[in-house]
Amino acid sequence: MKRTTLLLLILVFSICSLTKSQQLNLMPWPSELKVGEGQFVINKNLRIGVDGNPDKRFHPNLVRFIQQLSKRTTIPFDRDSVLTSSSTASMMIKINRSGIVKLGEDESYILKVETGKITLSSETELGAMHGLQTLLQMLDRNKDFFYFPCLEIIDKPRFAWRGLMIDACRHFIPLEVIKHNIDAMAAVKMNVFHWHLSEDQGFRVESKVFPKLHQLGSNGEYYTQIQIKEVIAYANERGIRVMPEFDIPGHATAWMVGYPELASAAGTYKVEKFFGVFDPTIDPTNKETYKFFEKFFKEMAQLFPEEYMHIGGDENNGVQWDKNTKIQEFMKKNGIKSNHELQAYFNGNLLKILQKNGKIMIGWDEIFQPTLPKTIVIHSWRGRESMEESARKGYQSVLSNGYYIDLFHNCSEHYLNDPLPADSKLNTEEKSRILGGEATMWAELVTGESVDSRIWPRTAAIAERLWSPATVKDVDDMYRRLDAVNLLLEETGIQHIKNREAMMRRLCNGYYIEPLRVLADAVEPLEGYDRHGSQRYTTEFPLSRVADVALSDAPDFVRFRLCFNDYLKTKNRDSYSKMMEYLDKWSNNQQEFYALASNNVALKEALPLSDNLAELANVTRKLMIQFNSGIKNSAAETNAIRIQIEKLNKPVAEMELPLFKFTLDLVGKLRNGEKEE
Ligand code: ACM
Repeated sequence: MKRTTLLLLILVFSICSLTKSQQLNLMPWPSELKVGEGQFVINKNLRIGVDGNPDKRFHPNLVRFIQQLSKRTTIPFDRDSVLTSSSTASMMIKINRSGIVKLGEDESYILKVETGKITLSSETELGAMHGLQTLLQMLDRNKDFFYFPCLEIIDKPRFAWRGLMIDACRHFIPLEVIKHNIDAMAAVKMNVFHWHLSEDQGFRVESKVFPKLHQLGSNGEYYTQIQIKEVIAYANERGIRVMPEFDIPGHATAWMVGYPELASAAGTYKVEKFFGVFDPTIDPTNKETYKFFEKFFKEMAQLFPEEYMHIGGDENNGVQWDKNTKIQEFMKKNGIKSNHELQAYFNGNLLKILQKNGKIMIGWDEIFQPTLPKTIVIHSWRGRESMEESARKGYQSVLSNGYYIDLFHNCSEHYLNDPLPADSKLNTEEKSRILGGEATMWAELVTGESVDSRIWPRTAAIAERLWSPATVKDVDDMYRRLDAVNLLLEETGIQHIKNREAMMRRLCNGYYIEPLRVLADAVEPLEGYDRHGSQRYTTEFPLSRVADVALSDAPDFVRFRLCFNDYLKTKNRDSYSKMMEYLDKWSNNQQEFYALASNNVALKEALPLSDNLAELANVTRKLMIQFNSGIKNSAAETNAIRIQIEKLNKPVAEMELPLFKFTLDLVGKLRNGEKEE
């Protein structure tokens, strides 16, 4: 064979493999993947054998895998014969040793799918469990059968700490919701569930030692110790650590409802209804405070086996400390020059208590104080700089800045937020101190009903950032895969799609919701803290308006943009036609939505948004036709269009149109070269 022919063949082969692997809907994307030829066909003769020494948690995971495979393929596997001896197995799982659910445990696996044979091998069952999730994501079908495509994967996490925090305080999050979120985490290979359990708005754990904490501090909504143990066992079986957070000394009003003596100001306290930063702060100068925490953390250390204990530490405004003469005298006497130093003194005392109970202390940025030993871990929420600063000073850290999923940002922003970007100035040793990251679901604007649709699917993209190699960062490919993984996530029990539909039925007061769905799939809630700008939310708001069914990445708009990007790259006519279909759908929806909403007080507030969407879609359609034919606009024409669309950019009922920015960009692309007047 001539050299050029060979090169050409290699090139064609690599393009084919690339195209094929890009069609796989894996998330997180594996560290190494080689696409093969052919398929492993799934039929009732599937036989799975397990060799080696897995922990007992592997068996229920394997059973769930088979059940899920059975549901999806509709094949009724015979339970007695699927699990078999290794000699007759078509799918062989080899696990070297029993794993421990703790930071840094080996989670790697190797998966080889060949025609007629699957081999999954790993050091611990935690790796094999990830491999099973990968297989479930790979499942495909044609008109005759279900199959796994042949391939070889060598996979391991980039970061050891891949977490999701759920704030169960500002709104109580029911136990079942917590549990199915743990299943969804496992589906995307996350391994830390950070449970935010105390706040101004609620103390959410039963304490037998200090029962007034949950009895008076929770409005009756808390987890019993039996429930907590149930969640810990549930998570452990899925390879997930459960780290509690008790946020002190600030964000602590709920503690003081039952135990006002903990506060730095005398008085009676009520569970807070509003959101923000409040004055009630633990008194760090009172010896009784530490006697209280000695007993409290002993109880909680026994309840939560996880070795890390999160003590919060954020946003202490110092108001009660400044006003308390006894505290001021204590500071003077002990040479404590600032509230930050006083908080470090408090943390130092807490640290001793935690260490006595075998725990490692972790807290938000504010606990960082060079007087504290290097064993504490900094959880960075205020900025990457503070995380890097602590890494330079010798502290380990976890990143949440950039992963605030409560703020309704687009998924791409979180996805591109790398704890260790390519241009990081940290040296190798400092880099090794960055343990990973956590998506943070603060609960001002979510309830048990809506929380899943705020966490997912965006958290799957964060899971990929924390698991996959840094070079995996093609945003369009992420959105394409996310759309598919989103649907699979439903099988874990999360209610992100179901509950949203139910909320829409409630808003429509009937079964027919299509016009609302079309609108809701094209609009987004206001980002950042902007939703709080229109009214002062409290814990009592039902969060059941149209804005509460709008998603941070409007799904139809995301699909529309993917079509546009594909059209830009390939001039694919299909993509162009699909875009036009979306634009038609949005403009045609105006009348339908009017018919549904004009006489419905719950929907009426969204009417102007529907009108704006229709007008913007009409403008965009014209511009697309122009773009397709290469006709440019003069500066004056460009200005006129900008003025026309600018008025469609006003927030309506705490929502906005992502199409606006797209159209504005398109207007820019269509401008001819002449100077603007
Ligand atoms: C925080 O967001 N205050 C940790």
